[in-house]
Amino acid sequence: MKLTVKKGAVLQEKVDAIVVGIHENGAEFNPVVQEINRLSGGAIRKVLERKGFTGRPEQVEVISAGVAIKATYVFLCGLGKAEKAGLEQIRQAMGRASLRAREMGLKTLATTTATFSYQLGDATIKDVASAMTEGAVLALYQFSKYKVKEDTNSRYIEELRVVEGERDAAREAEKGVAQGRIIAESVNFARDLINHPANEMTPTILAGTAKTMAKVNKIRCTILSRPQIERLGMGAFLGVAKGSQEPPKFIILEYNGGKKGDKPIVIVGKSITFDSGGISLKPSEGMGKMKYDMSGGAITLGVLRAASMLRIPVNLVGLLPATENMPSGTASRPGDILHSMNGRTIEIISTDAEGRLALADALFYATRYKPKWIIDIATLTGACVIALGNYATGMLGNDRELKERTTEAGEKVWERVWEMPLWDDYFEQIKSPIADMKNSGGREGGVMTAAIFLSKFVEDYPWVHLDIAGVAWNDKERAYIPVGASAIGVRLLVQLLVDTCH
Ligand code: BES
Ligand code: MN
Ligand code: ZN
Repeated sequence: MKLTVKKGAVLQEKVDAIVVGIHENGAEFNPVVQEINRLSGGAIRKVLERKGFTGRPEQVEVISAGVAIKATYVFLCGLGKAEKAGLEQIRQAMGRASLRAREMGLKTLATTTATFSYQLGDATIKDVASAMTEGAVLALYQFSKYKVKEDTNSRYIEELRVVEGERDAAREAEKGVAQGRIIAESVNFARDLINHPANEMTPTILAGTAKTMAKVNKIRCTILSRPQIERLGMGAFLGVAKGSQEPPKFIILEYNGGKKGDKPIVIVGKSITFDSGGISLKPSEGMGKMKYDMSGGAITLGVLRAASMLRIPVNLVGLLPATENMPSGTASRPGDILHSMNGRTIEIISTDAEGRLALADALFYATRYKPKWIIDIATLTGACVIALGNYATGMLGNDRELKERTTEAGEKVWERVWEMPLWDDYFEQIKSPIADMKNSGGREGGVMTAAIFLSKFVEDYPWVHLDIAGVAWNDKERAYIPVGASAIGVRLLVQLLVDTCH
């Protein structure tokens, strides 16, 4: 889809549809709506009266534009209550409008920031244009790589045009559209990696993709293979990899956008390309979904891509311990003891608690950078799905400021996090009679026992752990998240970086 910005009058554009936002019962305050209403001889007022369109968030009303307007249709999109007005309402409205337009087979859309922002006090034109772009690009994402015979791509929108009345506004909108596009395409890049099945997204393939992405974006990329991983002493990570025929890869990305001496921020992404559970085999029902257990790693790649393309002035490192978790004659067994890179010993209770094993060594590796922050992002526990459901990411960490900033970034981009307690008490549950700790503390408090396990590998560096198990896969279509990989976390972390580094 072409994204263009121009100076002009949006109602003069010759497009298939003009997209207009309306707050609940707020049509009379919207300058663009008023103008269309005037030009169309009161058509909008009639629709509002007749069709019960009130501007609720889920509403998209398509009306014929009439002769005074050059477009074929006008899309009226509900933005919800004016008191709740925010960037999220804009993303959702643009998402829904774009999906409807594609369904109708339309090719060109035009809109303007004024119709979305007229009740948004503090948002800039750039913010609004970015949100509009994100909504459209994220909503229109499709994964059709393996639909080789069926033509799923015959309907696609060719152009979204943002038309601004003033030159300055157009310039600001242009910046917003550029930013929104980079962010949304980085999310879609991550979604693609996650949606690929495990046979087409092995650790080796993931490493190759990381390399290519890094090369394009001038990011340094190092791939460590088994011998090097062994030399580093990553016994916990290798304990997971042992059962698979697919060789593990430890993927390192370094983007140096900051000043030379600036301490880096390290992001560690769980990258289990398939989680069968290993010898502690998962039930077969729904097991195929466990291809998304590398979401954290894909998200990390997406964040690095965006950070580099947006030229965020930060030194950023991404670490992906990539492996499958498979049962076999060479697999680790429950009862085995692993030696992690930081010297701690771990008794395996369940080979299905593999994420924390791989992360343990990666987190300790992160301390080599003497980082400003360590952030890990992982589909770590089923317990998190039970606790928070599908709308919140679990957050635990050892640094108040980092957690507050993460929470704020989450609110802004609507990838919200919810804090859970990282209390020492939880360590009781993972004490082992024969090793330093065990890898499972049982069913109770599974989110916290997993996090307290990870905390033993970050030394005293400021660290936050994000458990995305409940949000990483989307089962029911949302305004701008199609069914499948959500890649929730990319926009959150990009916002966190932007807020701290600009
Ligand atoms: N990848 C899973 C966590 C998961 C489960 C993510 C469901 C998304 C949906 C993880 O490796 C796992 O299996 N965790 C176990 C830990 C337990 C054995 C301590 C779990 O949550 O059951
Ligand atoms: Mn598992
Ligand atoms: Zn897992």
